[in-house]
Amino acid sequence: MEVIADIPTLRRSLEATSDLAFVPTMGNLHEGHLSLVRLARRHAARVAVSMFVNPLQFGPGEDFSAYPRTMEQDCAMLEREGVDIVFAPSEAQLFPVPQQVVVQPPPIADELCGAFRPGHFRGVATIVLKLLNIVRPRAAVFGKKDYQQLHVVRTMVSQLNVPVEIVAGETQRAPDGLALSSRNGYLSPAQRIEAARLYRNLGRAAQSMMDGNRDFPALEAEVRADLKAHGWDVDYVSVRRRHTLEPAAAADADVVILAAARLGKTRLIDNLEVCLGPAQFAKIWGQVW
Ligand code: PAF
Repeated sequence: MEVIADIPTLRRSLEATSDLAFVPTMGNLHEGHLSLVRLARRHAARVAVSMFVNPLQFGPGEDFSAYPRTMEQDCAMLEREGVDIVFAPSEAQLFPVPQQVVVQPPPIADELCGAFRPGHFRGVATIVLKLLNIVRPRAAVFGKKDYQQLHVVRTMVSQLNVPVEIVAGETQRAPDGLALSSRNGYLSPAQRIEAARLYRNLGRAAQSMMDGNRDFPALEAEVRADLKAHGWDVDYVSVRRRHTLEPAAAADADVVILAAARLGKTRLIDNLEVCLGPAQFAKIWGQVW
C-alpha cells in the first residue's frame, strides 16, 4: 500500500490506472468505512482511499480541531483490507491559496442538515469535486449514513457531468442499531447506551408507515417528542422522497425518514429508507432489525 501526501506523486502513481474505485474519508476509520472499501474493491481492480479533515465543511464552533486524527491506526486497517493507495494530503497541499472557487450545491443543501450547518454542503461538494479531479477514479463510494451528502454529491456529479460512477454503501450498525460514526467516540458510556434510541425510533416510525400510517407529520412529531423526553436536542426529523429529498406526501411510496439530534455536545444523524408500495412489497430498504 502506498501512502501519498502530494498531488504530483499521486498522479504519477495512478498514471497507468484506469480501473480505480475511490473512497473519500476524513480518517478515524471504523467498520462503516471498511465496508465502503470492500464495496469499492468489488467495483474496480484498484482501490484508493483519501483521508483529509476538510476545514471547508465545518462551521465556526464545530468540531474541526477536535475531530479525531488517527492516521497510523487508519493505515494499518486499510493495509489489512488490501487498499492500493492512501492519499493523505496536508491542508497546504489541497489549499495552496485560499479556496475562492467553490461548488454551489442544489437548494436542498439548505434544508435538513444544511439548515443547521450553513455552508456545510458547499464545503463537502467543493472538496469532493477537488478530490475527484485529483484522483480521477472510475467509481467513488459514499455511505448512505450521510444520506443528504450522497444526494448532493450525486446531483453535483450529474449536473456538472463529472465522469465518475457514484456507488452507495449501506449504513453499518452496532448490535444495538446505532449507526457507526466517528463521532460516536465523543459519547460517554451512558450516552452511548441512550444513542441507540435514534435508530429504534426511526425503526418504529418506519414500521408504523408500513402498517399503513401515512400521517408523516404525526410520525415525525412522535419521534421528536420521544427523543426530547429522553434529553435529546432535536435538529430535525423528516420524511422525504427518497430520490429528491423533497418533503414526502401521503401518496409517496418511496421515502426516507431522516433525523439529526444532539446528545450533549454530540450531533448524531441517521436515516431509514422505506418502500411503501403494495403491502407484499413493503420493506425497509437494506435494513434489518
Ligand atoms: O463523509 C465524509 O467523511 C466527508 O464528508 C467527505 C465525503 C470525505 C468529504 O470531506
